[in-house]
Amino acid sequence: MYENIKFEVNEGIGTVTINRPKAMNALNMDVLTELYDVFTKIESDDEVKAVILTGEGKAFVAGADIAQMHKLNPIGGRQMMMLGHKVMNLIENIEKPVIAAVNGFALGGGCELAMACDIRIASEKAKFGQPEVGLGIIPGFGGTQRLARLVGKGMAKYLIMTAEMIGADEAYRIGLCEKVAAPEELLSVAEKVARTIASKAPIAIATAKTAINNGFDMDMKSASKFEIETFTAAFSSEDKTEGMGAFLEKRAPEFKNR
Ligand code: CAA
Repeated sequence: MYENIKFEVNEGIGTVTINRPKAMNALNMDVLTELYDVFTKIESDDEVKAVILTGEGKAFVAGADIAQMHKLNPIGGRQMMMLGHKVMNLIENIEKPVIAAVNGFALGGGCELAMACDIRIASEKAKFGQPEVGLGIIPGFGGTQRLARLVGKGMAKYLIMTAEMIGADEAYRIGLCEKVAAPEELLSVAEKVARTIASKAPIAIATAKTAINNGFDMDMKSASKFEIETFTAAFSSEDKTEGMGAFLEKRAPEFKNR
């Protein structure tokens, strides 16, 4: 089993907890490899309808492992960043919703991990930031790209160049998280959101994720065309017949498992 993460499934909701609290859940190669493994399994596990990603202790993730990176030469550093990108891209693109429940520090690679998730719910105790320039590097798990896309170029430059750590309310204000919850309610709020999404048509959720992700970097004309094609895929599903039929018959829909 895993040494650095915990994974459990409860009535369709998978929870991945990064469990290296003594090192503030810092992402070393072992943690990244385990994350890649668990999300690969989740991708093909029909039992899991939505995923919550969180951290054990007072950090969500305090970044890539500085002690490990300190020992790496440039080739090793590049390999570690490539592994990080592989994990972030997997989470961003699996056809299931992934919710980051940001319980504490989400710094550097931790902020990048949260940004690779579909939705971020932050505890009032959460702290976000990209402190890399203070270590002589820049964000390397996608932060220069995802942060600019989430909060805009100017705010991304401000956060990355100053390395300022911000609290949950400021993160909410700038669009770096979508909800803020009391610390003791964080997981139940995340679970409620996960269950709401899991109650909808799975193919529609997966298709919406693909349409938003892929269309975001296209020009509007190509993105509109892409939406029509992805819409048609959802429209061809049994869930469309069921969802619309249930509405007309004034009953709750029973969507198919994928
Ligand atoms: N890597 C390795 N170890 C880390 C770590 C990290 N990113 N963050 C914390 N730790 C370790 C500390 O070294 C410490 O270990 P010891 O007990 O063995 O000394 C332990 O976790 C507890 O940390 P602190 O004593 O520092 O706890 P604190 O409560 O005083 O501070 C903190 C918490 C503000 C998160 C502070 O630990 C911190 O600033 N961490 C580093 C944050 C950072 O710079 N992250 C960016 C990393 S670079 C990166 O992520 C690159 C990329 O884009 C991929």
